[in-house]
Amino acid sequence: MAAKAIAFINFKGGVGKTAATVNIGACLAYYRRKRVLIVDLDAQCNSSFWLMPPLVWKEHIGNGEHSTYQLFRDAIMKSKEFDFEKAVLKGMPRATVPLIKDLDLLPAAVELIKVEEQLQQNKHAKFYEFVAKALKPQYERYDYILFDCPPNTYSVTKNALYAADYCVIPYLPDFLSLSGFQIFAKLVDDISELYSWQKSSRHKTSIAAVLVSHYRTGLKDHDKSLADLRIMLSLLKSQGLVHAKADLLEPPIRLSKDVAESTNQHQPVILTAPNSIGAADYHDLAKAFDDHFSNLP
Ligand SMILES: Nc1ncnc2c1ncn2[C@@H]1O[C@H](COP(=O)(O)OP(=O)(O)O)[C@@H](O)[C@H]1O
Ligand SMILES: [Mg+2]
Repeated sequence: MAAKAIAFINFKGGVGKTAATVNIGACLAYYRRKRVLIVDLDAQCNSSFWLMPPLVWKEHIGNGEHSTYQLFRDAIMKSKEFDFEKAVLKGMPRATVPLIKDLDLLPAAVELIKVEEQLQQNKHAKFYEFVAKALKPQYERYDYILFDCPPNTYSVTKNALYAADYCVIPYLPDFLSLSGFQIFAKLVDDISELYSWQKSSRHKTSIAAVLVSHYRTGLKDHDKSLADLRIMLSLLKSQGLVHAKADLLEPPIRLSKDVAESTNQHQPVILTAPNSIGAADYHDLAKAFDDHFSNLP
């Protein structure tokens, strides 16, 4: 069966997109024996750095040719340099031995920041197909392909939306984060609608889940935000703006120093602090994630 391709998106930064992509991906591969590919599409290269030190990353990507940037550069410049086998890092995080055998990473390069400008100069009618076309041959090799997206809805994110079957929106449990939910859902729906008819075999990409990060137990405001999020999700379901089975995946990920510190060690929290609340939350959330997406077509 082909991979379920899922984009982690939100037009806000700092809401836990990268943390969720990396840590859910790691748990799916480690505990649930899934073959997982993380595709880093953010010029900040955060999921790449979460899984390997900058020096190892730099040596691997070269001048960007072994990164997701190359597939955009190829499409824009009409070259054929991108080679998935050379670009992919197998068994992440990268240490002397692969630590999680079935966790692969297609790293990003900072040059991704130039893609928008390059697309302005070289107009491409089907710019949103670049990622899907380059990665299509890989969909049979994985159970999950997870896209870590930049904090916007520009061309790179549109590529992820086109290449994905579903998207997941991470949120912080506060008013500012949630206030954009409705507008964002409409935007994602509009973008997906625009491109869906171009997709041959696959259906329109839809928001199939939301999750919450930086949650603090016992904080009334945070519990109210969770309740508000559930209400909002039902409303959007009734309006057909999210998938009919869209759900708030639980548990919410608690704010934890261990998750934050695991970035410094370039490993997911289940490896750096296996007995922490961060590891426990991500273990449980990945189970909910797998159960949820296994039940979607
Ligand atoms: N559960 C958590 N507890 C504490 N800090 C976290 C947690 N999850 C993520 N962080 C930190 O919060 C910041 C934002 O998270 P990140 O995943 O990078 O967001 P985004 O990808 O949406 O910009 C990062 O510095 C990250 O290390
Ligand atoms: Mg990020």
